[in-house]
Amino acid sequence: MDTRPIGIFDSGVGGITVFSEIVKLLPNENIIYLGDTKQFPYGNKSRETIIELAKKNIEFLIEKDVKVIVIACGTATSQALETVQKIYNVPIIGIIEPTILSIKNDSIKRIGVMGTTGTIKSGSWENEIKKVMPNVEVINRACPILAQIAEEGWTENEIARLTIEEYVEVFKEKPVDKLILGCTHYPLFTNIIRKELGDQTEIINTGKKVAEYLKKSLKDQNKEDEATYKFYLTDMESSFLKVATKLLQKEIRIEKADI
Ligand code: DGL
Repeated sequence: MDTRPIGIFDSGVGGITVFSEIVKLLPNENIIYLGDTKQFPYGNKSRETIIELAKKNIEFLIEKDVKVIVIACGTATSQALETVQKIYNVPIIGIIEPTILSIKNDSIKRIGVMGTTGTIKSGSWENEIKKVMPNVEVINRACPILAQIAEEGWTENEIARLTIEEYVEVFKEKPVDKLILGCTHYPLFTNIIRKELGDQTEIINTGKKVAEYLKKSLKDQNKEDEATYKFYLTDMESSFLKVATKLLQKEIRIEKADI
């Protein structure tokens, strides 16, 4: 039995959508969550910068003696996963592979991907989808300000609705069988997206796929009853606490990560 924690990081509160899915499937696991709020948003930064930031986050989590690291960020998965997997000995999981593995045998004609500018520019989702489903048409949509709106906690208001209306227009013109929320902030808008696109499109929350993958791949699971969760931020002046508390529906305590 390995009681060491699972390490998770994101640029902010988006990774909480992954965290909550992991807690549901692996309720005994201890978890350390790191939100790099000092550097938010990741979505408009260069690949070089994202790799540097990912390395800092990973080294912080390794210091905390984690047994596996989940990059709960679409942007960092797209731009840094391959590089960091080669550098560190600890297993590192992103959000793309678990998602694609779970849908690769489905019958899909057209698939949509929403992500940050960096994610869509990297072409990583489309490349990975085409490797296993070469005939599927991929419709990409960069959503430059959506994560910022989520970080503000505006997940149900008119600003969120109008912004999403604009971003999903392309999926109305070319309806998709499945829509991958390729940024971990976007599941916070699932209700609005579903209303916009109707039931014909399956909305994929990558956090669920990551949790299922982790459950299968984690050999030494923790069997102790009381799981502990620790939350660290690189900058405390953010609306993280407000948004995360609402999402998790419980009080959490945050510590400062000096990185
Ligand atoms: N949650 C992130 C992602 O999945 C990052 C959003 C951002 O920092 O721009 O891409």
